[in-house]
Amino acid sequence: MIAVVLAGGEGTRLRPLTHTTPKPMLPIANRPFLEHQIAHLRAHGIDRVVLACGYRPDAIRAHFGAELEYVVEPQPLGTGGAIAHAARALSETFVVANGDVITDLDLSALVRFHRDREARMTLALHPVDDPSRYGVVVTAADGAVTAFVEKPAPGTAPAVTINAGTYVVEPDVLDLIPEGRAVSVEYEVFPLLVGAGLYAHSSNGYWRDIGTPESYLAANLEWMPAGGLVDPSAHVDPGADVTGSVVGPRCRVEAGARVSRSVLLEGAVVTAGRTVENRVMGSDGEPVW
Ligand code: GTP
Repeated sequence: MIAVVLAGGEGTRLRPLTHTTPKPMLPIANRPFLEHQIAHLRAHGIDRVVLACGYRPDAIRAHFGAELEYVVEPQPLGTGGAIAHAARALSETFVVANGDVITDLDLSALVRFHRDREARMTLALHPVDDPSRYGVVVTAADGAVTAFVEKPAPGTAPAVTINAGTYVVEPDVLDLIPEGRAVSVEYEVFPLLVGAGLYAHSSNGYWRDIGTPESYLAANLEWMPAGGLVDPSAHVDPGADVTGSVVGPRCRVEAGARVSRSVLLEGAVVTAGRTVENRVMGSDGEPVW
């Protein structure tokens, strides 16, 4: 099966890191985010990964080479335009995944759910406590989507499941996406499919959108081994106190420094006596956030 991964956004919320590194290549537990995502897709039988690229595709291509296929947009086409541009030639059911979500979603079960209902498009849903930051998806008992409620006021939403950024799509859906301009799949395509073959399936597993500074730090701490992760090329002085953190390649932590629940990006130095807590530290030795 083929997956189209949306990997072309500028990642403005993760600036300044995304000024130089596209979001899919930012390290999560010392490996590019996309490596984690591709491992998950492959585990569910995805044998072709087509990356819908736009912003800074070269860094992605240089790392993955011929393992992936790349379609680069001439200008940003938005989530819907990117799907259409990357998948226009496909004639079989395919998966779409946002290139900033890390999850253990049972993708095989989502595809089965889609096929059982003869759906045209099926969204994975994820339950949240406070849906007011998100678009809420309302479904009937059989999973048919009946409404979208954008960023509802707390306590007013009729359901608390949000779009989890993974879809199963029939190729005829692409006919609904106009060519040559930016199109949002969420705002312009989903509404056309309500009552016309759009389904959604909720699951409770692990789900993390890495797109904000807080969630980027959280994803790193969730993906490191228990106790922490130190790259073999890093030097942590025996007199330093490093707990529950990710220490990247060529970092240096000096004697007397304390690092906890933090990420030290490649080359970061924490000098003697300094305390770093709940931070992402850049290679210049200063907190990024
Ligand atoms: P922010 O600027 O911080 O909102 O991040 P973003 O640019 O990644 O936007 P957002 O988080 O809304 O995007 C969700 C997913 O769609 C991400 O995986 C993006 O890479 C991807 N995406 C967003 N816009 C485009 C686009 O125009 N083209 C492509 N190919 N992908 C896109």
